[in-house]
Amino acid sequence: MQPFTLRTPDYLLDALTLSDAPAIAEYCSDPIFEAFMSTPWPYTLADAERFVGEYVPSAWANDTEWTWAIRAASGGPVLGVIGLRLPSGMLGYWLGAPHRGRRIMSAAVDAVVAAAFERTAVAAVRWEAVVGNVASARTVARAGFTYTGERPGAVLGRDGSHVQSWTAQLSRTDSATPQPGWPM
Ligand SMILES: CC(C)(COP(=O)(O)OP(=O)(O)OC[C@H]1O[C@@H](n2cnc3c(N)ncnc32)[C@H](O)[C@@H]1OP(=O)(O)O)[C@@H](O)C(=O)NCCC(=O)NCCS
Repeated sequence: MQPFTLRTPDYLLDALTLSDAPAIAEYCSDPIFEAFMSTPWPYTLADAERFVGEYVPSAWANDTEWTWAIRAASGGPVLGVIGLRLPSGMLGYWLGAPHRGRRIMSAAVDAVVAAAFERTAVAAVRWEAVVGNVASARTVARAGFTYTGERPGAVLGRDGSHVQSWTAQLSRTDSATPQPGWPM
């Protein structure tokens, strides 16, 4: 797939560029990433350059993952990243620490979910997070995902293990309004 741009009411989801790598390396060095993400740890500038320069373009080309930069305006600095894995429909996302606390990711999730249902055949968009990641759980709960329980995660952890995870999904027929039953 040719990378395409998405918009939320206040933000732009567009292509990552190599000039984003220093900010990505800084944001992915936040200790919360060691606990809650499967990104390399410690995270280096070389990791960021490999991610933006190799992984992201080839995953778009092979339709294995569509990844966007989140920006406040075109050409502006990267605030965070969101991705959709295919064909599983699994979401992945993060925001740099200075940009959290404004529910930016809930809006980005809404835009990516709409694109997933418009442009792919996925029956549902899926989410999982390490048990205890309340900020991430609240983000998809707000977007109307239904909690589907706790189990070993499908996405491998940094050490190759299936980390115990909270899971949820939003299917095409769901109303996308907040649902009861979340553990937090
Ligand atoms: C997940 C993440 C993207 C959310 O960022 P955001 O859009 O700025 O979300 P906010 O900080 O506005 O918080 C969303 C909700 O979680 C709550 N929240 C945030 N941090 C929290 C915490 N540490 N404990 C409990 N609740 C928390 C907020 O109060 C808010 O609740 P509300 O929607 O009911 O008001 C961001 O926290 C992040 O990048 N975390 C590190 C990477 C990560 O964990 N990614 C997800 C992996 S599955």
